[in-house]
Amino acid sequence: MTTATEAKPIRLGDIAPDFSAQSTEGTIDFHKWVGESWCVLFSHPKDYTPVCTTELGEAAKKGAEFKKRGVKVLAVSVDSLDSHKGWINDINETQKTKINYPIIADESRSVANLYGMIHPQASDTFTVRTVFVIDPKKKVRLTMTYPAATGRNFDEILRVVDALQLTDSHSVATPVNWKQGGECVILPSIKDPEELKKKFPKGHRELRPYLRMTPQPDR
Ligand code: BEZ
Repeated sequence: MTTATEAKPIRLGDIAPDFSAQSTEGTIDFHKWVGESWCVLFSHPKDYTPVCTTELGEAAKKGAEFKKRGVKVLAVSVDSLDSHKGWINDINETQKTKINYPIIADESRSVANLYGMIHPQASDTFTVRTVFVIDPKKKVRLTMTYPAATGRNFDEILRVVDALQLTDSHSVATPVNWKQGGECVILPSIKDPEELKKKFPKGHRELRPYLRMTPQPDR
């Protein structure tokens, strides 16, 4: 387990740093808690702030969508457990939902520093809006960073999870603006005609040798 307090850049493909932290649902030993699931780990700047309130409410409303995809959601900010617990009542009431995932109380900033969630030129006290999508092998598959005043789009986070899972299961990439049910791109590494037929029985269109489109394989 890493206990570094220095901010370190986290890159795609890195193993997500492990940690132990207090949360609104008890102590979380991160890797153990993720287990065989995927994880969306996201930070927000501060409790009792308007944009954060809408974001955490939206993440709860999408609970069934995350569950369907085998994703556990975990929020982080540097506020206290008491603060989180009081704020959850406000989120539930104003956003008409029920928070259904843990929120880490990272008062020591150890998780925030481990994941580079504090960007000192933006604010040296608060976490910015980071998102890490982590797969069951604990590999970081997506990182996103938004400024404090811009709320994130949780439909986009779900869309990326869908795209990552499709790439893993069906050897396809997803083109610009892809949505569920849209055409996919055959990975350039697949060249053998027999393998192509076997993997893509619905056929494909070859626009260029490197640009081959196929109907979404799992539909
Ligand atoms: C907000 O969540 O509304 C917010 C938080 C920090 C700075 C600006 C906005």
